[in-house]
Amino acid sequence: MIRLDYQKMRDKRLSLDMTQKELAEATGINLNTLKQLETGRSSTDLENLKVICQQLDLDVEEVYHPDFHNTKIISVVNNKGGCGKTSVCGGVACAMAEMGLRVLLVDCDAQRNLSSSFDMPRSEMNFGKAVLQEQNLNAFIQETRYENLDMVVADVTMGTLDMQLFTKVSRENIVRGIIRPVADRGYYDYIIMDTNPNLSLLNFNVVNASDYCIIPVQPASFDVDGLGIVVNFIQGIQPYNPGLKIAGIVINRFDARNRLISETSLEQLKESYGNMLFETIIRVDAKLQNAQWENRPVLDYSSGARISTEYRLLAKEVIRRCS
Ligand SMILES: Nc1ncnc2c1ncn2[C@@H]1O[C@H](COP(=O)(O)OP(=O)(O)O)[C@@H](O)[C@H]1O
Ligand SMILES: [Mg+2]
Repeated sequence: MIRLDYQKMRDKRLSLDMTQKELAEATGINLNTLKQLETGRSSTDLENLKVICQQLDLDVEEVYHPDFHNTKIISVVNNKGGCGKTSVCGGVACAMAEMGLRVLLVDCDAQRNLSSSFDMPRSEMNFGKAVLQEQNLNAFIQETRYENLDMVVADVTMGTLDMQLFTKVSRENIVRGIIRPVADRGYYDYIIMDTNPNLSLLNFNVVNASDYCIIPVQPASFDVDGLGIVVNFIQGIQPYNPGLKIAGIVINRFDARNRLISETSLEQLKESYGNMLFETIIRVDAKLQNAQWENRPVLDYSSGARISTEYRLLAKEVIRRCS
């Protein structure tokens, strides 16, 4: 996808105190064409663009992005611990990366399970530091050993991040402010954020910075009962972030051997949440835990495992719902 940063061109023209008419005369380009270009209603060929940029003293690369990816920000949320947030993040991200999509994982949980599952060491340049210092997250990105897959790691010191956020001005927008420059760069297809098991100010921030949320849920009584709380939490953030959507609820750790619980929960979930549920169900698979024990994503540890196949199917659904 090609993106033209027409606002930047307009701002530069205004900073030079030049009218559209003057620019049209100086470049020999039709005034109407220029007007449409500056409002993003039309594009132009590269030759014209070069002439305009020359007049505006801009490098073409500053405004013309021929390989622009429309980055979607997805957060994986549930205040219930152990429902599979971290595993779903890792599985979906790996499956997307395998497909050739560029993915950035952001670990927002002080337990740093996501960072560990990719064998990423502790680092000064972690998500907590970026939040506290309100720094552009681009500088905190590290490569993983997997192609197309980068990460901003978490740190154990992030346990108190929530309290520290309280004293900040516009405290619900901090994460949005630091992650926006990454999305605007247009390098990644998806940014996937793993959250901590709380309905905290930090998670409010993360959801407030997202385009989509995914909610993993275990088919078990307390988990199903608690699902409404998460859905309400996300819906409560929608007035702050009107573009926010719940991409879906994914059933995780489904165990067909435990028929009574699994099937009763499944019926209840279908009844209450209908088409919010992803079609793909992630079943219990011990290979996942074995992979995590070795600090490797399961798609790498056992590419042919049943759960790896399920993550690939889920990733396809996520792509369909989040585009
Ligand atoms: N589908 C699954 N099959 C087997 N074990 C799973 C599955 N999903 C998650 N687990 C295990 O459950 C535990 C909690 O999962 P995790 O993804 O860390 O949840 P959360 O991030 O929500 O706390 C981990 O030990 C993980 O290995
Ligand atoms: Mg987790």
